[in-house]
Amino acid sequence: MKQVKIALLGIGRIGKIHFRNISQQFSNASVVAVSDPQYDEESFKKEFGSVFFSKDPEEAVAHAEVNAVLVCTPTSSHASLVEAVAKQGKHIFCEKPLDLSLERTASLVKIVKEANVKLMLGFNRRFDPDFMQAKKSVSEKRIGNVQIVKITSRDPGLPPIDYIKNSGGLFMDMAIHDFDMARYIMGKKVVEVFSKGLVLVDKDVAAEGDVDTALTTLIFEDGTYAVIDNSRKAAYGYDQRLEIFGDEGMIQVDNNLHHRNIISDAKGIHHALPLDFFMDRYAKSYLKEMELFIDALVKDKEMPVSGEDGLEATRIAFAAKTSMQEGRPVKLSRITSQ
Ligand SMILES: NC(=O)c1ccc[n+]([C@@H]2O[C@H](COP(=O)([O-])OP(=O)(O)OC[C@H]3O[C@@H](n4cnc5c(N)ncnc54)[C@H](O)[C@@H]3O)[C@@H](O)[C@H]2O)c1
Repeated sequence: MKQVKIALLGIGRIGKIHFRNISQQFSNASVVAVSDPQYDEESFKKEFGSVFFSKDPEEAVAHAEVNAVLVCTPTSSHASLVEAVAKQGKHIFCEKPLDLSLERTASLVKIVKEANVKLMLGFNRRFDPDFMQAKKSVSEKRIGNVQIVKITSRDPGLPPIDYIKNSGGLFMDMAIHDFDMARYIMGKKVVEVFSKGLVLVDKDVAAEGDVDTALTTLIFEDGTYAVIDNSRKAAYGYDQRLEIFGDEGMIQVDNNLHHRNIISDAKGIHHALPLDFFMDRYAKSYLKEMELFIDALVKDKEMPVSGEDGLEATRIAFAAKTSMQEGRPVKLSRITSQ
């Protein structure tokens, strides 16, 4: 394929990021159709210009020029859309997670394979320049053999309770990025998961059967660890840090700040707060993931994040929830889609 002609389904928070990146940054790709029920043709064109628009996603997917589809709708609609797109023989980029059910996630991976189309999952953090550099250093053995990965992943504030209600819970909605990051950095299989969770931010979260604060230990096939701490609310903003400890050294990735000035005065030494949230903190990663998606289509290469990667992160999220509920470590082999 020479030109990637994209249908974008869902132009909300994440869909807008992809729409702008594709429209402004790539000469070998364009968005040729968009679907989102929250717009009508007039309001869509006013905000985004003259691209084919339909409230009906099937109409956008069926557009004659379209050869790839971005699924950026709420999670509950991913499965039916991914299945419909695969059956149309068009390639797919889908935001995480594929679905909230493990069985459905596994069946989608199969459906996509059988349809012989490519699928990339939106685990964008792999493509953050600092995390990519950390992965490269690990691969080059700059710190020897990795023993412990520590991921700090805290949001700046609780999302609306309505969002929590439909999110699949903290492990499936939020920590799933961190589970994928741990797998990506280690390049090994997770065999055991131990999670604890608390409600410390807002008691309404408990009413939804969810937690807002969690600690997870992943154990890899060679016995090494990842430790992940999550909170829905850090008082100082979006906290995204990574530390990788090996027998010959350590790699640290700190927060990206609003600016790098350090101001010293009689009260102390101050620097700026972290970038506000995922849209700005991970801006470069969204651009890079789209570049790699387009590149894989143009050059007929394997996708850099596969459906299987999505399935594996989903299994870990299920294991984390089960572990928290049972109050004990859970072998990942227990979590199957049968
Ligand atoms: N990778 C990341 O960093 C990241 C960040 C945020 C969200 N997400 C994921 O992206 C997805 C969307 O999240 P969001 O925050 O952008 O949500 P959002 O609510 O801001 O946007 C979703 C949009 O999809 C539209 N929509 C709903 N049903 C549709 C359908 N059937 N066809 C077409 N459009 C439809 C809605 O009207 C809305 O405009 C979720 O699955 C979420 O988990 C990923």
